[in-house]
Amino acid sequence: MNQTLKTGSDGRLLIGGLAASDIAGQYGTPVYIVDEDAITAACGAFTTALAKHYPGNARAAFASKALCFTYIYRVVQKCGFAADVASSGEAYTALRAGMNPEDLIFHGNNKTLSDLEYALENKIGRIVVDNFTELSTLDALCERLGKTANIALRLNPAVNAQTHEFVRVGGIDSKFGFAIGTGDALAAVRTALASKRLKLGGIHCHIGSQIMDSEPFEFAAQIMVTFMKRVLDETGYLLKELNLGGGFGVRYTDKDAPRGIEDAVRTAAETVVKTATELDFPLPLLMLEPGRSIVAEAGITVYTVGSVKEIPGVRTYVAVDGGMGDNPRYALYGAKYDAVLADNPHAPRTRAVTVAGRNCEADTLIKDIALPELKPGDLLCVLTTGAFNYSMASNYNRVPRPPVVMVKGGETFVAVRRETFEDLTRCDL
Ligand SMILES: Cc1ncc(COP(=O)(O)O)c(C=O)c1O
Repeated sequence: MNQTLKTGSDGRLLIGGLAASDIAGQYGTPVYIVDEDAITAACGAFTTALAKHYPGNARAAFASKALCFTYIYRVVQKCGFAADVASSGEAYTALRAGMNPEDLIFHGNNKTLSDLEYALENKIGRIVVDNFTELSTLDALCERLGKTANIALRLNPAVNAQTHEFVRVGGIDSKFGFAIGTGDALAAVRTALASKRLKLGGIHCHIGSQIMDSEPFEFAAQIMVTFMKRVLDETGYLLKELNLGGGFGVRYTDKDAPRGIEDAVRTAAETVVKTATELDFPLPLLMLEPGRSIVAEAGITVYTVGSVKEIPGVRTYVAVDGGMGDNPRYALYGAKYDAVLADNPHAPRTRAVTVAGRNCEADTLIKDIALPELKPGDLLCVLTTGAFNYSMASNYNRVPRPPVVMVKGGETFVAVRRETFEDLTRCDL
């Protein structure tokens, strides 16, 4: 079972010290429950590991696509984190939460003109320019608005991390970034340097997600620092910031064995230091952008079991009152989860079932999982749902999205309320 979860003296599943079934009883199901203290601890682990293993300046930014709502930005801001935003909607939410615009890093392979305008008008700290079209669009926009832009360049170091192909974005065949190997990255640096309006601070890469091994990070760090040195040699320009993105793996099921935050950060930091030292290159500001590893294990989703349908000799479907509308990750890329009974998480797993969602299509949450005997009304907790569940949720079948209930210091409060039918028709004209 996922590390942040414990059981109480009565054997029930606890999250943040409170019984999941009590929280479900109070707020209804389905409900996302997020343990704020677990998020704070994960942020602290990144900050501590960076301070311990990187002798230069370092900072972490929360990749807010993993879990995005107003309160979460306040939590990470309190931890001293910056934030990665991937749209002006995320930037807007972060600013509304009170984040300093200087602390926002704006990503995206196809930022719209209005995204770029929004970033400039709101003095977003870094726009991470992804391609040549964006370089010229942003340059022209700056000229029209009489502004300058602080930019970094998204580079593709062409590292093939072992992860699902839909989230493996660092290979050469990627929609993201200027490839170093093709010469595009150096050409992009020269283009940026030739502009009076674009202020180039550094380079960025993100090699994929849910990566368990250290090698991909080592390769990426080495390639990126080597590129910074090459830029210095060939253009005389010193890039001062290196952002290595996120991608650190978490534990969804017993089969996942993440190395832990300290170890993962150490690998990246030590490789940067070693490569920079070998090349006699000054240590850059090192940034990391973890998303999943900050929030995934801090969250669970509690559902109520509805129908149980047995097809003898074929399969048993246990249907719950949520599904791909609140967690589309099985539908998107066959993501695997573990689940336990809220009132008896250690009950013997006597039966192979498929946990089906309530939505149409072949809506599935967990295919072929061993679970205890389940009956209508039981509370089933799907574990490790803090990342890319709420943030990817939809109103498919016009099912209102569940609330996000935070647990902190033994108290609960609603950070995002449950949607109502009025919410569903709010934009309908
Ligand atoms: C640019 C960028 N940075 C950081 C992340 C965070 O990755 P993860 O949640 O795997 O840590 C992502 C995720 O897609 C990303 O695209």
